[in-house]
Amino acid sequence: MYRSHNCGELNESHINNEVTLSGWVQKVRDKGFMVWVDLRDRYGITQLIFDAERTDQTIFEQAQKLGREFVVQVSGTVIERASKNPNLKTGDIEVLVSKLTILNEAQVPPFTIEDETDGGEELRMKYRYLDIRRNPVKNNLIFRHKVTQEVRNYLSTSGFIEVETPYLIKSTPEGARDFVVPSRMNEGQFYALPQSPQTFKQLLMVGGMDKYFQIVKCFRDEDLRADRQPEFTQIDCEMAFVEQEDILNAFEGLTRHLLKEVNGVEIEKFPRITYDEAMSNYGNDKPDIRFGMEFGELNAVAQHKEFKVFNDAELVVGIAVPGGNSFTRKEIDNWIKWVKRPQVGALGMVYSRCNDDGSFKSSVDKFYDQDDLAKWAEVTGAKAGDLICVLSGPKDKVRAQLSALRMELAEQLGLRKPNEFAPLWVMDFPLLEWDEDTNRYHAMHHPFTSPKPGQLELLETDPGAVKANAYDLVLNGNEIGGGSIRIHDKETQALMFDYLGFTPEEAKAQFGFLMDAFQYGAPPHGGLAFGLDRLVSILGGQETIRDFIAFPKNNSGRDVMIDAPAPVDDTQLEELSLKLNLKS
Ligand code: AMO
Repeated sequence: MYRSHNCGELNESHINNEVTLSGWVQKVRDKGFMVWVDLRDRYGITQLIFDAERTDQTIFEQAQKLGREFVVQVSGTVIERASKNPNLKTGDIEVLVSKLTILNEAQVPPFTIEDETDGGEELRMKYRYLDIRRNPVKNNLIFRHKVTQEVRNYLSTSGFIEVETPYLIKSTPEGARDFVVPSRMNEGQFYALPQSPQTFKQLLMVGGMDKYFQIVKCFRDEDLRADRQPEFTQIDCEMAFVEQEDILNAFEGLTRHLLKEVNGVEIEKFPRITYDEAMSNYGNDKPDIRFGMEFGELNAVAQHKEFKVFNDAELVVGIAVPGGNSFTRKEIDNWIKWVKRPQVGALGMVYSRCNDDGSFKSSVDKFYDQDDLAKWAEVTGAKAGDLICVLSGPKDKVRAQLSALRMELAEQLGLRKPNEFAPLWVMDFPLLEWDEDTNRYHAMHHPFTSPKPGQLELLETDPGAVKANAYDLVLNGNEIGGGSIRIHDKETQALMFDYLGFTPEEAKAQFGFLMDAFQYGAPPHGGLAFGLDRLVSILGGQETIRDFIAFPKNNSGRDVMIDAPAPVDDTQLEELSLKLNLKS
């Protein structure tokens, strides 16, 4: 028996018990006549004591030689601590060791295995197994387990069946590139790893499964960011015989359940706004609504004077920064510089201070009088003590710029509080989006999304205006999930592929199986997928999903621990018929 208790378990009630513990040596304090060792495992830390007077001499000397991260087993008696540590679960006791076995020695770890470590990100990734011994990472993984378990409980109780779908499939377009896998048995042919199980879950609906879910790995070869990994996990769901409302209710229920069970937060009804409202009020389709700072469109109250910059702009739009009048001139100048950085791309920023006495002082006083500025304050909702920041330019660009400013200001002002949760649904997304690179429309969600009833005809005349039965769940400024009501008849699906630029042959070659299935009694259906990594990290009060993934990839898509991707040897390439292809 390696242990009778774990390292987070012993307390005063165990005093005088004989116990056996196993774990890692976190710290050794050798006072010459006494050695204290902090022994760590997943559950906590227990202090061991070796006393020159009470401990066998060989064991005492062995203890003096213990190094950090040695794996040891000890037996001894639980005794009351002379100086108690109220910050530790086991802080009232220590174990007077009578037997010590070194189970495995360890090299000095490349960084300290403590909550605050001296290891940089790359080093910690290279030795991720050591990083996982640290509380912040370990606790995140345990937290993820808890969320996942609650998801399974909730969905299973609500009648959803978990079904696994294959990983070696044909391309499913979700807007990213595929990772492809060469087939040895089918020369020159490739599988694609799923960007999502989209088509399979629709086929499960045709198969009559009615309510499906799967906690499933998805693979997307796309540029990486803090909230994106090349392989990530979805809570993928689909339901048959449902309308949009049924889906929103089902998954609002799941989210509410998680917020309650995991975070102890109760939220009544999630607000719903349309995509168009999100764009005009926040310049963003995933608005963070924990703080106000909604956009105020100022065209009507800013284009009547001689200020050419505003008069020439398609949109003049501002936000009120709460308490922003306390910014110094230098601070405001820094914000102006910030919006002019190439990453944001604004040409400049106009501001108006809202003084406590009700007067205004703006950077464009030459053009606008107090009455004008009072109207700006009214439109942006600015109060005395606030600062109004105004940008102007082409509508889409200026909204994106002001959105970036709004988020950065909120971040700097501490308005994005990690333990405050503000979920909302963003609905009625456009069906199509214009792609500058290819000069044509793409499906904004995916090509299986159905247009809103009666809007199919608009595809001919004004494709960009067609709205879809598509929705996203947004939490604290992050897109946590998205889904749609699907097309379930062959003709509409064929029409959709046609609009998206597929020839009938291409559509048949890529998605013939789905359109065939639609001819055998496909029920109306729809669904959604949550990004589990994102959901877990936001519920955990953070935004970097890497910290909630046991073995993540770095920003270049590399696993620096196992050093992947890596070349494969020539024989393997030959077997896969890839060698010749590469050379030719
Ligand atoms: P979508 O592409 O919106 O929808 O993906 C669903 C959710 O998955 C998460 N997500 C990611 N998380 C981490 N890294 C990534 N690279 C990444 N890409 C996406 C996001 C996103 O909201 N099949 C559809 C769902 C449906 O229509 O039912 C789909 O995959 O949180």
